[in-house]
Amino acid sequence: MSTAGQAKFTGPKQKDSSQEKSVRESNIVAAKAVADAVRTSLGPRGMDKMICSPQGEVVITNDGATILKQMEVSHPTAKMLVDLSASQDVEAGDGTTTVTVIAGSLLNAAEQLLRKGIHPTVISDSFLLASKKSEEILKSMSVPVDLSDREQLIKAASTSLNSKVISNNASLLAPLAVDAMLSICDANSTNVDLRDIAVVKKLGGTIDDTELVKGLVFTQKASHAGSGPTKVANAKIGLIQFCLSAPKTDVEQNIVVSDYSQMDRILKEERKYILDMCKKIQKSGCNVLLVQKSILRDAVNELSLHFLAKMKILVVKDIDREDIEFISKTCGAMPIANIDTFHAEKLGKADMVAEQTTGEGKIVRVSGVPGAGKTVTLLCKASNKLVLDESERSLHDALCVLRCLVKKRFLTPGGGAPEMQCSYQLSKWANSLEGQHQYCVRAFAEAMEVVPYTLAENAGLDAIQVVTELRNRHAGGDTAAGINVRKGRVTNILEENVVVPLLVHTSAISLATECVRLILKIDDIVVTR
Ligand SMILES: Nc1ncnc2c1ncn2[C@@H]1O[C@H](COP(=O)(O)OP(=O)(O)OP(=O)(O)O)[C@@H](O)[C@H]1O
Ligand SMILES: [Mg+2]
Repeated sequence: MSTAGQAKFTGPKQKDSSQEKSVRESNIVAAKAVADAVRTSLGPRGMDKMICSPQGEVVITNDGATILKQMEVSHPTAKMLVDLSASQDVEAGDGTTTVTVIAGSLLNAAEQLLRKGIHPTVISDSFLLASKKSEEILKSMSVPVDLSDREQLIKAASTSLNSKVISNNASLLAPLAVDAMLSICDANSTNVDLRDIAVVKKLGGTIDDTELVKGLVFTQKASHAGSGPTKVANAKIGLIQFCLSAPKTDVEQNIVVSDYSQMDRILKEERKYILDMCKKIQKSGCNVLLVQKSILRDAVNELSLHFLAKMKILVVKDIDREDIEFISKTCGAMPIANIDTFHAEKLGKADMVAEQTTGEGKIVRVSGVPGAGKTVTLLCKASNKLVLDESERSLHDALCVLRCLVKKRFLTPGGGAPEMQCSYQLSKWANSLEGQHQYCVRAFAEAMEVVPYTLAENAGLDAIQVVTELRNRHAGGDTAAGINVRKGRVTNILEENVVVPLLVHTSAISLATECVRLILKIDDIVVTR
């Protein structure tokens, strides 16, 4: 931190090098503290965190990005680690704990190199070299995967689900995630938009009731005012963004009515206005109406619901603005912003729209839609909110893993194998380098061992013994050797079906290196007001 009010200067201000050092040290300490906080969550035997907000909300999670996002860190460099994990979440979706743990370990290595008097720029450059080389090493140990190979995709999704709170249900959720992904992409896709897979949460039942729906699911019930229909076959779906209630003036106004007949006229006018709108809707042939939630006034009122029920139109209200695009893509209904443009060609279609009773409350299910194949819905169920939320986050991770495979079709073995292989190959490669670079790359290689070490530690194994054995196996050319946390020893991890997409590892290493380099280059913190 800049010290104010220093003694007189002669000549330009030269920063005290000890101060520079202490800034760098404190930055490293703060960032390492964050990395240490999530270390225990790594791997299938990692612990979960319970996060309590001041409002009394509780979240239980194992997801690195979620833990860090909820943690209130104030130190600026500690925040960089939070951002690092968030960028891994965007880039790969999984590996958000790994990236933070690797960054922490690289910072540790950098700290020791700095203490030995190596200049930060040299460390930073060497780390970049090592990270580039790691990508090559990872690529060479990965195996290509075909999108038509459903079994292989399920293995990758299961690996990501195995380290979550809901790991017991991985065998059910992984195939669901794979089927969801396969139904929206084909063999030639190079990327998928995860917004085409809606993950809808509904309390009640157990995780085993989670299902894949080719269509739409609304977690709110249909309107029951005036005993309207709750089941419509051959649905013509209208999606409206305007309100079916009496208009309000733009500015706050009071109208004083002193006469009963005037009162009567106002009510009649309102009735007529709403009835006209409902008639127009009926005329277009619409028999299911989805109404967007409005913040200005009631999107529907008693009167309009009553008329719509009489016309045998099923109404689902409180549709979120964000869901409009998805609904539109799925059932082909175009959003309608004005009653005057409510025409038959804007309506969507579905074979069946029906309200169903589930464990807790009701849902409306739309099936037999023309857009099936473009979008899909995953209906998550769980008996309590904490598990339900975590189940949604875990499914998101599994879908991201599958997206990684669509983007880059390579799989690497898990269980610490890629990190150990990188570590071994990098230290071999370091011999071809000169001087300080060799020293730094070797430190980088050693730092990579943190992942197998932590996996073993979290599984309650003798970490030093296991890591040494793993190192020996990799030195002997066995690239698929990994830590088998179930058997508690080193085995061929591919036989255990533990596979991780290449992209998760490459992006973890490159993002962690980038973050560490940024931190190393900072020599002062200037606080502005
Ligand atoms: N059955 C298993 N045996 C051994 N290692 C495993 C197994 N399943 C997963 N792993 C390893 O666990 C690590 C992933 O752990 P985890 O999912 O907790 O963290 P992450 O993927 O880095 O972060 P997050 O999932 O929170 O975004 C990977 O290194 C993977 O190789
Ligand atoms: Mg994971």
